[in-house]
Amino acid sequence: MSRDVILWAGAGQIGMAITRRMGYGKKIIVGDKKKENAQAIAKIMNEAGFDVVPIQMDLSSRESIRGLIAEGQKYGEISMLINAAGVSPSQAPIEAILKVDLYGTAVLLEEVGKVIAPGGVGVTISSQSGHRMKQLTPQEDELLACTPAEELLKLEMLQPENIRDTLHAYQLAKRCNEKRVMAESVRWGEKGARINSISPGIIVTPLAIDEFNGPRGDFYKNMFAKCPAGRPGTADEVANVAELLMSEKGAFITGADFLVDGGATASYFYGPLKPAEK
Ligand SMILES: NC(=O)c1ccc[n+]([C@@H]2O[C@H](COP(=O)([O-])OP(=O)(O)OC[C@H]3O[C@@H](n4cnc5c(N)ncnc54)[C@H](O)[C@@H]3O)[C@@H](O)[C@H]2O)c1
Repeated sequence: MSRDVILWAGAGQIGMAITRRMGYGKKIIVGDKKKENAQAIAKIMNEAGFDVVPIQMDLSSRESIRGLIAEGQKYGEISMLINAAGVSPSQAPIEAILKVDLYGTAVLLEEVGKVIAPGGVGVTISSQSGHRMKQLTPQEDELLACTPAEELLKLEMLQPENIRDTLHAYQLAKRCNEKRVMAESVRWGEKGARINSISPGIIVTPLAIDEFNGPRGDFYKNMFAKCPAGRPGTADEVANVAELLMSEKGAFITGADFLVDGGATASYFYGPLKPAEK
């Protein structure tokens, strides 16, 4: 029997929170670079009544992404994509951040866009970091949006001499995610499908806990203390927005990015988080 299939990349807290909202009655394939993460989260979900198949998948590899899609197609049509795979500035060097968060996301959106079912919908997790970086030129934004995925990492602006540190690489990757979503939404629209991104602020997950314990720990703790919400967020609060975007109520929303950051970006530009010099 053919089923509606959800492809879910990144077996972490944000991905699970979203999948729990959207996944009932559907076949769910979860791919993660660490197969044990995918297996552990599939066990939790399956014991809660979902139908999840865990596989090993590396977002930085087109072949591996095609493997995720092929696994899903064994069960039916791909009707949803939830991309919550990624590495943070304290978890990986510059090259890995660009390969996974920037290139990998671009390839995933492209490959799933080829097979998404009519009426299908996707969400990819970007970050407030993409909003915090200084504005790029319209030409740079367009390069991030439209350069063929295989050429992306050759762009001048992404060469090592033009990237200050892992945080800068992450900001560029997340800006690129938003731009790719805009460009891909045009192609997805030709199939009657929608794609959006969510840019969370600090959300308590293993990835954020690595940041709290990493070299920028105090910076992050200060960020949530001084944002209007005065606290970090939860994966379920990200899922609240994803549920709107992925349901019928979001039918007119595509190619858009949504900040869910407790106001941290607002405070960074116009409040107590504003740096002395930008
Ligand atoms: N937690 C936050 O504060 C926060 C804020 C903004 C954005 N984000 C973004 O949200 C997404 C999900 O993060 P999370 O906080 O749920 O983290 P998480 O650590 O709970 O989950 C991330 C998962 O991605 C997997 N992963 C890493 N590299 C991969 C690769 N190459 N291929 C496949 N899987 C890979 C990890 O193994 C992990 O299971 C990431 O893109 C992250 O950048 C998180």
